[in-house]
Parts: sequence; C-alpha cells; structure tokens
Amino acid sequence: MEPDWAEWMRPDWAEQVDVTRPNVARMYDYYLGGMHNFAADRELAEQVLAHMPEGLLLARENRSFLRRAVRHCVADGVTQFLDLGSGIPTVGNVHQVAQAADPAARVVYVDTDPVAVRHSRNLLAGNELAGMVAGDLRYPAVVLADPVVEAVLDLSRPVAVLLVSVLHFVPDDEDPSGVVAGYLDAMPAGSRLVLSHGSTLDHHDGMNDAEGLYRQSATGWTLRTPEVIAGFFAGCPLEPPGLVRAADWRPDEPPRPGTDSLPLLVGVGRKP
Ligand SMILES: C[S@@+](CC[C@H](N)C(=O)[O-])C[C@H]1O[C@@H](n2cnc3c(N)ncnc32)[C@H](O)[C@@H]1O
Repeated sequence: MEPDWAEWMRPDWAEQVDVTRPNVARMYDYYLGGMHNFAADRELAEQVLAHMPEGLLLARENRSFLRRAVRHCVADGVTQFLDLGSGIPTVGNVHQVAQAADPAARVVYVDTDPVAVRHSRNLLAGNELAGMVAGDLRYPAVVLADPVVEAVLDLSRPVAVLLVSVLHFVPDDEDPSGVVAGYLDAMPAGSRLVLSHGSTLDHHDGMNDAEGLYRQSATGWTLRTPEVIAGFFAGCPLEPPGLVRAADWRPDEPPRPGTDSLPLLVGVGRKP
C-alpha cells in the first residue's frame, strides 16, 4: 500500500488537522506566500486562482488595508483590538503593527482554525498584552466571555473590532448583522468597526466558479452588495472616506495596477 506521505510528514503544528481537506485559513496563507499550508490547500487555491486571478492581489490589498486601519485606530487613541477570524500569522500582524505604534496596545485574536491558533499562541508567548482565543466568531457572547478576552481587554474603554475578510464566510441564514451587533453592543462609545468584505462589484463568471470550488471542499462565501455591506455599520457611522475599495481607503502609497477593479469593500465605523 502507498504510504500516506501527508500523514507521515505531518509537522507538529498540524497535529489536529485533516491535511487532506482544504481549509480557508491555509489557502489564504498560500495566497500570501506563507508556509503553513498543505498540498490539498495549494491545489484548491490554484484552481480558485485559475478562475479568479485577482485573488492574489486581493489578499495583499486586504492585508495592506488592515495595517493602515490599525495604525489609524491607534493614532485616534483606540489601542485595544479584537481581531475576529484573525488567520494564520503573517508579515505585519495586528499586535506587531499596533504595538509598534503604541507599545501598550492590547490585542486578542480569535480563530477556529487549529493552525492559526497554534501559531498565534507560539508567536504571542511572553507578550502579556496579547492573546489568542480558539473560538467561533459567530457566537459573540461566548467569545466575549472567554478568559483571555477578560484578561487582555478592558471593555470599559474603546475597542476596535476587526472583521477583516471573514464576514463573507458567515451566510445570511446565520445572521451576520446580528453577529456584528453582538460585538458592538458590548463596546463603549468611541469603539471602531474595521470591516473588509467581498462584494458583488465587478462580478464575473470566474467568481461563481471560484465560489463553487470553495463550497465543494472548504467554506463557501457570500458576496454582498455595497448596500448590504454598508448596513453592517448600522449604529456605527463610517469615517471618511466611507465604504470604498481597499486601495482607496486612506492610501499611503500609489495604487498598484488592477486595484481599481478589486471587489473588496472596506470601511471603518465609529460608535457614537
Ligand atoms: C481569509 S482569512 C482572513 C484572515 C485575516 N482576518 C486577514 O484579513 O488577513 C479568514 C479567517 O477567518 C477564519 N474564520 C472563518 N470563519 C470563522 C469563524 N466562524 N470563527 C472564527 N474564525 C473564522 C478562518 O479560519 C481564517 O483564518
């Protein structure tokens, strides 16, 4: 019988992982040039990119927006971050960007993926101002009651709630608006909602094919109209420049070719 190479060569950080099944966290890690992915993740990611080549640029622009938004929050005095669906650590993680701007910044990461959880915990060892929760963001009350959240964040002071490239993995029948409200209702005035979300803008057939591939083997996504995405900011008015394409949100460098048609909408809202 053929040996199961993936099982035999499995690194210790993937002990609890079915490496034969593609996963959104590890596919995204592959798009970003990371090393924490397996053959099944890479194969499906390449199939997705064949239908939607802009996926690579989209992942990079998303991370670039995330870094700018974190620096913006710190500059505005918001130094606590709850990063929901934080992903596998990569270059320029939220705690690194935030603590470079203010060493007292506090960050809690939340993700369901065991690889993201394991690597984040390793990276955060010894950092008392940051923590990792293995949790499902669809359950705000459970996440907010986690001992790590209680130990790291002071919910009487403003918190930036980050839902970056993850809410499109919550389908309509799981009440994404209710999920967002579940976090913002628990936060004081001055808190921020930092959101990036796949949209229906510039939709092409390849995106349907890519979505079908995700749904077959990993997690399907729900692309939403600009109006629906803007609705997630109910009670948390958007700061300038509003809900825009990722590259148009307070850019700090000239736009790269192709960013003007990327279907990723982003915004930062402030709770009054
Ligand atoms: C596309 S990655 C985005 C990572 C990071 N936020 C960023 O923008 O670079 C989506 C992440 O959300 C996580 N995720 C998806 N659904 C989730 C859920 N219900 N609860 C927690 N994490 C979730 C995945 O495991 C993955 O790590």
